[in-house]
Amino acid sequence: MSSTASLDGAKPPVFLRDYCAPAWRIREIELEIDLDPAATLVVSRLAVEQDPAQADVELVLDAEHLELLEVSIDARVLGADEYRASAQTLTIPGLRGRSVVGTRVRIAPEKNTALQGLYLSGSRDAGFLLTQCEAEGFRRITPSIDRPDVLARYTVTLRADRARFPLLLANGNADGAGELDGGRHWARFVDPYPKPSYLFALVAGNLEHIEDEFVTAEGRRVRLVIHAETDAIGHCGWAMQCLKMAMRWDEQRFGRCYDLDVFHIVATHDFTMGAMENKGLNIFNAKYLLADPEHATDDDYRHVLAVVGHEYFHNWSGNRVTCRDWFQLSLKEGLTVYREQEFEADLASRTLRRIEDVRVLWRAQFAEDAGPLAHPVRPDRYSEINNFYTATVYEKGAEIVRMLGVVLGAKGFRRGLDLYFERHDGSAATVEDFLAALGDANALDLSAWLAWYAQSGTPDLRASGRHDAQRRCYELTLTQRTPRTSGQPRKQALPVPVAVALLDADGRPLRLHLDGEPATAAHERVLLLTSDSATFRFIDVARPPVASVLRGYSAPVRLEQAIDAAALAVQARHDSDGFNRWFATDTLARRLFAQALASGEPDPALLATHVRCLDGALRDPAVDPALAAEMLTLADAGSLADGLADIDPEAVHQARAQVERALAIALAEPLLARYHELSGSDGTAVDLAAQARRRLRNACLAALCRADPRHVDLARTQRAQACNLTDRLAALSVLVNARADGVDPMLDAFAQRYAGDALVLDKWFSVQATEADPRALARVEALTAHAAFRWTNPNNVYALIGAFTLRNPRAFHRADGAGYRFLAQAITRIDSVTPQVAARLATSFGAWRKYEPVRRALMRHELEGIAARNGLSPDLGDIVGRTLA
Ligand code: PHE
Ligand code: ZN
Repeated sequence: MSSTASLDGAKPPVFLRDYCAPAWRIREIELEIDLDPAATLVVSRLAVEQDPAQADVELVLDAEHLELLEVSIDARVLGADEYRASAQTLTIPGLRGRSVVGTRVRIAPEKNTALQGLYLSGSRDAGFLLTQCEAEGFRRITPSIDRPDVLARYTVTLRADRARFPLLLANGNADGAGELDGGRHWARFVDPYPKPSYLFALVAGNLEHIEDEFVTAEGRRVRLVIHAETDAIGHCGWAMQCLKMAMRWDEQRFGRCYDLDVFHIVATHDFTMGAMENKGLNIFNAKYLLADPEHATDDDYRHVLAVVGHEYFHNWSGNRVTCRDWFQLSLKEGLTVYREQEFEADLASRTLRRIEDVRVLWRAQFAEDAGPLAHPVRPDRYSEINNFYTATVYEKGAEIVRMLGVVLGAKGFRRGLDLYFERHDGSAATVEDFLAALGDANALDLSAWLAWYAQSGTPDLRASGRHDAQRRCYELTLTQRTPRTSGQPRKQALPVPVAVALLDADGRPLRLHLDGEPATAAHERVLLLTSDSATFRFIDVARPPVASVLRGYSAPVRLEQAIDAAALAVQARHDSDGFNRWFATDTLARRLFAQALASGEPDPALLATHVRCLDGALRDPAVDPALAAEMLTLADAGSLADGLADIDPEAVHQARAQVERALAIALAEPLLARYHELSGSDGTAVDLAAQARRRLRNACLAALCRADPRHVDLARTQRAQACNLTDRLAALSVLVNARADGVDPMLDAFAQRYAGDALVLDKWFSVQATEADPRALARVEALTAHAAFRWTNPNNVYALIGAFTLRNPRAFHRADGAGYRFLAQAITRIDSVTPQVAARLATSFGAWRKYEPVRRALMRHELEGIAARNGLSPDLGDIVGRTLA
C-alpha cells in the first residue's frame, strides 16, 4: 500500500490556478510513420523553441507506452546519458533556444485495447489502423508537448504495405504519394493550419468510400469523402447529406466557411465516444454515421444529423480557435453542442430538440450536479481529464451559451461570436476570452456570467405571481437559490434569464407592459434576475393571467412555480411556446407521480385534468404528432426521483407505472383511434413528418399495451408487418416488456435477420437489457456470452451493460444487490481492457448516497471492493475515489 490517501492508479490532481504558459513551443512537426499492426515505427522531428522568459526550464516531452529507440538534437544522435526517460516523460536537459529534436519510437497498435493513440479496428488481417488523440493520446504515438496551447504545423508521411493498407490518410491536404520497394507505398499530408496535438489523426487500411463536392461561399471547391468498411459503405449516404447541410448552415447562420481542399470522415466500430473532430479527418463511431431504413431507427437518423453537424462545427469552435488548457474544455464543447442544437432546431423541429435536450439535462446533468461527481462547467482541478467529458461540461456548458444567446439576441450573439473567432483564430483561448468577445461586441460587461462556469450545482428558481385587480397589475417574484454541492458549500446569485409571457384564460398572450418602461407590442419578455430575488410588475393587466415562465427553458434551473392545475392545463392546451406546452404536461405528470408515491394513488381530479390535456393533444390535428408523443411519454424513473432522498427504486417504479397505466386506461379510446389512423402509410420514408407519425403511433402502442394486455396483439401484428427498423424494434420492445407468449423465438428471429450487423444487434441487446423487470439481469448476464458481444467493444458494453445500469433502474437496483455485483464485476473486467469505458460505467454508482439504507450499503460495498483492488486504472481510480469521498 502506498502512504498516500489516493487509490491505486490515481494521478495527482492538476489545478487551474497553477496554469503556466508553455516554456517551450513547437512550430513544426514532421512525422514519418511506418505502419504495421504489430510494430509501427514513428520517426519525428520537432522544431522546438524556448520562451526566452523561461530560459531555465528544461524541455520535457510527454511520452507514454512508447519503446524509445533513439533521440537526436539537430540530427546528432544523443547518448543515453544526454536524456532521461520515465514512464511518462522524455527530458532533454541542457537544451536552450531553438533546435530540432528527433525521436524514433516503436509502438504496437494491435495490443492497444485502450483505444487511445494508434490502434487497430477489427481483425489483425482485415481491420484498419486509426488514431484517437483527445485528450492525451498523442503522447502514446510519439514524444511531444501534448497540451492544447502548443500549436504546430504538421507534415506527415505514412508508409505501409499497399495490399494490406491501400488507403493512407492524415490531416490536411494531400501532398504526394508513391510506390516503395517490397510492395509498400507512401503518402504525404500537409496541414497548413497550426493545431494542438489532440487534433492529430491518421487512418490506414482497406476501406471503401463515397465522394461528393461542396463549393463554399468563398468559392473553395471541397472534396467530401466518407470512408467505411465494405458492408457499411452503402449506409453512408445520409451522413453525406448531413455534412453538406451542416457546411451550408454554418455559412449562413454564423458566416463560417470550411478551409481545406478536402474533408474526410471515417467510420469505426471501435471507439469509446461518439466521434472526434480531428482537423479535416473526422473519425466517427459507426453508430453516429451509418443510417439506412432497414438498419437504422428514426432516432439514429436524427443522431447522425446532430453528430455530423457537431464534429463539422468544431472546425471553427475547437479547431481554428482551440482551448488554452483542458479546464476550458467547455469552451469548445459547450459552444459546439449549442451550435449543433441550433442546427437541428433550424433544420428539423426546434420544440422537439429542446424537449430532448432538457430531458437529457434533467436526467444526466442535474443528477451529476447533485452527487459526489459534481463539478463546475469549468472545473478547477482534475486528476484524469478523460473523466471530464461530462454532461456538465457538454450540456450545462451549452445551456450557458444558450442563455447568452437569449440575453444578447440573435444579432448580438452573432456579432460576439464573429469577434471571438476574429480575435482568437489560430490560437488557444479561455472562457474569459469568450465572454470578453461577446461583451465587447455588444458594449456589455458579461463578467458576472463567469459564475455560471465556476459554480457547480443546479439553481432552484421560485416563481410566484400576484394579481391586483384594483391596480390592474401583475407582480411576478423570482427567487433563486443554489444548494451546496460537494466541495462548494457557499453559493452566489447567478444571472438568470427568464423568458415570460402572460396568457389570458383562452391561452392568448397579452401585451406586456413593465412598470416604468414605455409600452411596446411585445408578448414575450426576457427578465434578467441578477440577485437572490426580484419582483417585476406588469401593468394594464385586467384579469389574473396564466404566467408562462421560463419559456423555451431559458435557463438550466429547477423551476418551482406556484401554479394550479387549471393554469397548467391552459398552458398545455394553448401556450404559443411549444416547449412550455410540453413542460406543463410534464409538470402535471410529475404531480401525479408524487401523489402516487406518497399516498399510493394519484388524485382523481388532477388525473382528469391531465387526461383532458393529453386527450386534446391526441385529437388535435394541428398538434405535431411528435409533440403529442412527447406529452404521452412520462419522464424516466431517474428524473422523477430527482430531489428525493432515501430512494426506493421499486416504489418509484410502481408509482410511475401506476400513473402510466391510469393515463393509458383513461385515454384508451383516442389512443387506439390514433394508432389505427397512423398505421401503415409511411413505409420506409424518413422525412420528418413520417418520423413524427411513427413516434406518436409507437407511443400509442406502448400506452395501449400498458392499459390492456389484449393490445399486445397489435404489437405482434406490427412486428410481423413492419418495413422499417423503428416500427419493428418498438413492437419488439413492447412484447419483451409484456413478457408476451413466444417472445423468445421472436428475439431469436430478430438476431438471425440482423446477424452480422453489429449496430442493430446492439439495439437488440438494449431492448432486452431495459425490460423493467428484475429478471432482466439474468438475461443480461446470459447475453454477455452471446457471439455478438465482446467485452473489448465499447458499443457492445454500453448497449448491454450501460443500458441495463442507466436505463433499467428497477432491475439494476434489485433489492438483493445482484445488479450492483454484476456491474462491479463488469467494471473490474473492463478496466484492464478499456479504462475509459470502465470509468464511465462506474458513474452509475454516482448517486449511491441518495438511496434507502440497504441499497446504499450494498452499492458502497461494491465501490469499496473496486477501490481495494490493485492495478486500478487512473480513470477508474479517479471516479471511484471521488464517488466515495
Ligand atoms: N471531442 C469529441 C466531441 O465531442 C469527443 C471525444 C472526446 C472523442 C475524447 C474522443 C475522445 O466531439
Ligand atoms: Zn465535441
